[in-house]
Amino acid sequence: MANMWVRKSIAALKAEAAASEEGGLKRTLTGVNLIMLGIGAVIGAGFFGLTGEASAKYAGPAISLSFVLGGIVCTFAGLCYAEMASTVPVAGSAYTYAYATMGEFIAWLIGWDLILEYMVGATTVAINWSGYVASFLHDRGLDLPPRFLSSPGTKMIEVPDDIAGRLHLRHGWSMLDSVKDRLIEAGVDFTGFPQVEALFNAPAMLIVALVTALLVVGVQESAKVNNVIVFIKVSILILLIVLGLPMVDTKNWGGSYIQPSVGPWYNFEYGWSGVLRAAGLVFFAYIGFDAVSTTAQEAKNPQRDLPIGIIGSLVICTILYFLGSIVLTGVVNYKQLHVPDPVAVATDAMKMPWLSFYVKIGAIMGLSSVILVMLMSQPRIFYAMSKDGLLPAFAAKIHPRFHTPYITTIITGLVVMTAAAILPLSVAGELTSIGTLFAFAIVSAGTLYLRITQPDVERPFRAPAIWFTAPMGILTAVLLMLPLPFDTWVRLIVWMAIGLVIYFVYGKSHSVLGNNPQDTLVGAGAGEA
Ligand code: ALA
Repeated sequence: MANMWVRKSIAALKAEAAASEEGGLKRTLTGVNLIMLGIGAVIGAGFFGLTGEASAKYAGPAISLSFVLGGIVCTFAGLCYAEMASTVPVAGSAYTYAYATMGEFIAWLIGWDLILEYMVGATTVAINWSGYVASFLHDRGLDLPPRFLSSPGTKMIEVPDDIAGRLHLRHGWSMLDSVKDRLIEAGVDFTGFPQVEALFNAPAMLIVALVTALLVVGVQESAKVNNVIVFIKVSILILLIVLGLPMVDTKNWGGSYIQPSVGPWYNFEYGWSGVLRAAGLVFFAYIGFDAVSTTAQEAKNPQRDLPIGIIGSLVICTILYFLGSIVLTGVVNYKQLHVPDPVAVATDAMKMPWLSFYVKIGAIMGLSSVILVMLMSQPRIFYAMSKDGLLPAFAAKIHPRFHTPYITTIITGLVVMTAAAILPLSVAGELTSIGTLFAFAIVSAGTLYLRITQPDVERPFRAPAIWFTAPMGILTAVLLMLPLPFDTWVRLIVWMAIGLVIYFVYGKSHSVLGNNPQDTLVGAGAGEA
């Protein structure tokens, strides 16, 4: 009878990783590559899109504080990820860490949950990418057919440019739901504007297909493309900050940095509670730094470079977000930022239309690299699960020439293409957040658990003050999960229930370790843990 609580020993995991290098994944990534991968996965739809809603509706000018809070929440989990990644430098991220600490059953659940972070995360960003591309092309005089710009049944409306400009709405075709309130508020009768119902989201499918093809060809090539994109998007943010900071005028704050609350505190609009609510929203902007840990077997010196990649990308992004959001709310009033492309609104206000052009290019590229890293991470988790027998063996096949897990990369690409074509943005975004927060909580718990149960295992990187850091990692993740809508919780529970069924129908009986607990893949002692 297979044992569902069986744990992998750290020694076995490391030996397994070393053995799989023969004809397996190639070690090509350096510390700098990993920081670039982290930034590649992090800066995207969160900053270029969500900042607007978060400041206009919840935090006001104090959105920069929300970014700092979001950064702190992620730092707790990030330190735990860094410790785990240096201790268990094997592909598979949180899935592998759970296998080493809390046993196979929890590992499976976490691996299944990570699909929400990476696959649904890539889906969310692909949908955003589609919106940015449509708006960019509209600015250049080319309108994509609106039927192919959103999930099935979404009502689309074309707001004339003069009205869109006056009300700070997206130009060209928009989702009716996203502009309706502003139009009604401004007393605009929009019944005569062109409207259609969307069939599916074609640009979102296209970007996923392109990125998947690149990932099949090679991790090194993908890393090179990623480096170029990261360079461009970070340069644009630095330009925004350097040119924008001298133009910051605190008059735009409308009186005070922390705006008065609208109604009671539990409305979470402005005031300190609004800052917290906005932190929950912009948390999305940090998702992805942990993707670094999925590439452990492709890093040249994983024990040193994984912590550098995780912490380095997190720190750099927090600084950029903090300063960037000071500029956004310092050059225009925060209420004007309630648009899908708030950064472009700010650069317009800076009277630098040339910068607005680059900001849109930067956003489109930035979002592409987020998709790239997420679609790169997911197959590596499937690869690890398949090696362990929890998924069918064919999934772990490595391409003989490109040395990439091409089967899982293609399957991931096809599923994400379908999801990006048909899922609405809010459903995908909230599922990504809840799934990621759940993973953060488990990794934080696992790090503390491993310190207690295996204090002597070699830890090249140790998270400071683990008795504070890990509990805070759990607590803050749960705190951010709590306010998410009930529907999102139901989706998480249904998703995890599906995972349970698959484990009991397939994984448990096929598990390599569960069926041979004394005989791990490489013959190292499974009983060590
Ligand atoms: N952090 C990523 C983004 O903001 C998911 O797009």
